[in-house]
Amino acid sequence: MTSGGSGGPSACCRAAASVRNRAARPSHWGVDARAEMTKPRQAWLLSAAGWLLGCSGPQSALDPAGREAEELALIFWWMTAGCLVIWVASMGLALYAAFAARSRSMAFAKRLIIYGGAAIPTIGLTVLLAYGLALLPEFLAPARPGSLRIAVTAEQYWWRVRYLPGSEVTDRVARRGPIELANEIRLPIGQEVEFLLDTPDVIHAFWIPSLAGKVDVIPGRQTRLRLLPTRAGTYRGACAEYCGASHAWMAFSVVVQERAEFDAWLAAQARPALEPAEPAAQEGWRVFTANGCGACHAVRGSSADGVVGPDLTHVGGRLSLGAGLLPNQLVDFGRWVAETDALKPGVHMPAFGMLTAPELRALATYLESLE
Ligand code: CUA
Repeated sequence: MTSGGSGGPSACCRAAASVRNRAARPSHWGVDARAEMTKPRQAWLLSAAGWLLGCSGPQSALDPAGREAEELALIFWWMTAGCLVIWVASMGLALYAAFAARSRSMAFAKRLIIYGGAAIPTIGLTVLLAYGLALLPEFLAPARPGSLRIAVTAEQYWWRVRYLPGSEVTDRVARRGPIELANEIRLPIGQEVEFLLDTPDVIHAFWIPSLAGKVDVIPGRQTRLRLLPTRAGTYRGACAEYCGASHAWMAFSVVVQERAEFDAWLAAQARPALEPAEPAAQEGWRVFTANGCGACHAVRGSSADGVVGPDLTHVGGRLSLGAGLLPNQLVDFGRWVAETDALKPGVHMPAFGMLTAPELRALATYLESLE
C-alpha cells in the first residue's frame, strides 16, 4: 500500500513549496537569503519554476509517455515555433513601418499589406491547421478488434472503471463479466487500449495529459478515446471540465507497467475478496454490514453487492482514497468515512460521523485488508 505520487499535490505545487522553503532558510554563506531577495524577484523565480516544472512530471502533456501524447506535444512545439516566427515577423514589420518606411511608395505599402498582412499569415495558419487536422482521423479511429477496452463512467466525483471482456488481455483472466474497480487504471506497456466513456450526471472530461488528449464525457452518449502507452510509470489523470463543488478532487492514477506485471495485477483484480482473517478486520466487517455499507458498495465474494458507489473488492491495494484525495492508509480511511462531506463537498456518500473511534478503526482495518 503506498500513497503514490498521484494522491498529493501536483509536482508543480510541491516544487513551488520547496522553492519557498529554500528561499526562507538562511543560505550556506551565512547571509539571510530573505534580506537579499526582493518580492518581485521571488515572484519571478516562483513563476519560472512553475513554468519549467510544467514541462515534466506525472501530469504533463509536454512529457509524453504515449503515442498520442507524443503527437500532440509535437503539434504544440510546431504551433509554438510557428507563432514565434509570426510574432517576430510582425514586430519587425511594425518597427520597419514606424521608423524606416516613410520614404516608400504607396504601391510598396499596398504590397506589404497584401503579402505581409494577408497572404503569408493565411498560408502559415493553413499549413498549421492542415497539420493538426491530418492527425484527427487517426485519433478518432476505433481500436483494432480484440484490443483492450475499458469502460470509464464519470460520477460525482469519482471514476468507475470496468475492464470489459472480449479482448485477449482480459479473457485470459476473466471471460464472463467486466472487472470493476475505481479511480485507478492500469495498462500494459505497448498495448493499444480504447476507453468507452459515459456519465449518468453532468459533463465531465477525461484527461491523462501524459498519455493522450482530453475527451468530454457527456450524459446520454458514449465518447471514445484510444491510446497506446509507450513508457512505464505512474501518471495522474484528472477531470478537466468543471462538474460541481468537488471537480478539483476528481483525479485518478494511471499505472503503465510491463505485461507480466499487468497480467498478475488484473488476475488479482478479477478474484473475489478474501474473508477477513484477523479479529480486527472481522469486527470491521461487522461494522460494515451493521451500517448498511453494502447497500451502495460491492465487495465481490461477500453479501455486499451495492452498485451505487465504488466497488471495494480490492480497495486496500489502491494508490489513493477518495479519487486522488488522500493517501491509502488506515488513519485516512477512518477520516474519509467519518468526514466525507467535509473532505469532498457535494459527494453522494453520507458521512458516518456517528461511528465511534474503535468502530472506525475496525472498519478501516477491514477495508485495508481488501488488497
Ligand atoms: Cu468531473 Cu470535473
